[in-house]
Amino acid sequence: MELGTGLTQFLIEQQRKYPSATGDFTSLLSEIATAAKVLSREVNKAGLIDILGFHGKLNVHGEAVQKLDQFANDTFIKVLRHTGHLIGIASEEMEEPYQIPDAYPKGKYVFLMDPLDGSSNIDVNISIGSIFAIYRRKSVGAHATTEDFLQKGRDQVCAGYIIYGSSTMMVYTTGFGVHGFTLDPGIGEFLLSHENIRIPSRGSIYSINEGNEFIWGNGVGQYIKQVKKEGKTARYVGSLVADFHRNLLKGGIFLYPADAKNKNGKLRLLYEASPLAFIVEQAQGKGSDGRQMILDIAPDKLHQRVPLIIGSKEDVEEANGYLSS
Ligand code: AHG
Ligand code: MN
Ligand code: MN
Repeated sequence: MELGTGLTQFLIEQQRKYPSATGDFTSLLSEIATAAKVLSREVNKAGLIDILGFHGKLNVHGEAVQKLDQFANDTFIKVLRHTGHLIGIASEEMEEPYQIPDAYPKGKYVFLMDPLDGSSNIDVNISIGSIFAIYRRKSVGAHATTEDFLQKGRDQVCAGYIIYGSSTMMVYTTGFGVHGFTLDPGIGEFLLSHENIRIPSRGSIYSINEGNEFIWGNGVGQYIKQVKKEGKTARYVGSLVADFHRNLLKGGIFLYPADAKNKNGKLRLLYEASPLAFIVEQAQGKGSDGRQMILDIAPDKLHQRVPLIIGSKEDVEEANGYLSS
């Protein structure tokens, strides 16, 4: 499709092209885009927070202002709960899932999110993001149940992320390729900028927090020595979305392995690893925990953590050779 096509038009035409694609995602993704625009605006104001008196104080309008991750969480809930497509929402920021209140029509999907990824970078003006996943619910009652959320990544029907960077972008897949849209702040619309993204099968970038070297588990150190010998270059932002996005476009590998401090890795399976693994596989890449594919892991806890090795297919396969030994 022509670059510059608006997100809504793109979604409608995708829906026509694939008869199996339901219109449900057209409205869900449009509302996700609305949340992304609101957050993009807030993120851009983050540097003014102290000046305008935020941080639990009252702002110039006399409103109490929340932390940005709480704000992001509430914004997604507010724009998504009325769509009629959801039964519940799970989030890194909430102990228990949010049930769509009876005041709204209930739908057949559940939404899972890391509403604000890379929070430690907010204060220093470095890219942050949001990550989301959508599954068909399994239960049939009036409320979402735990089993609706504890599904294998393989069963996702949609996943995506928003990156608030030098420009704001939304990247998503519904299982028909990965597409990227850039927010044109002048008109407030997401425009198609990257159609059918494919990650190169090998990359020249590796992304890992090398400060953890002395607590890494088996094989990680050896693999990192190997990538240095190969002449790969190090890039690590500390916002998963930003590191993932760069590697997706340029080719590369991101690792957050298990270590002595984080025995199961640090990142969350349902809100971070699974959605990005679905996206990377749709872009011909790979996501693993060092032993098995992320998408094949059956979760048993909502906030479960997992080691994550994700990116270019051949790089991930090479890393797995070191990590599984
Ligand atoms: P979040 O801000 O959602 O808690 O996620 C932080 C994550 C992720 O964005 C990043 O890749 C990772 O933490 C960085 O961790 P280290 O500082 O331990 O490297
Ligand atoms: Mn995160
Ligand atoms: Mn987060």
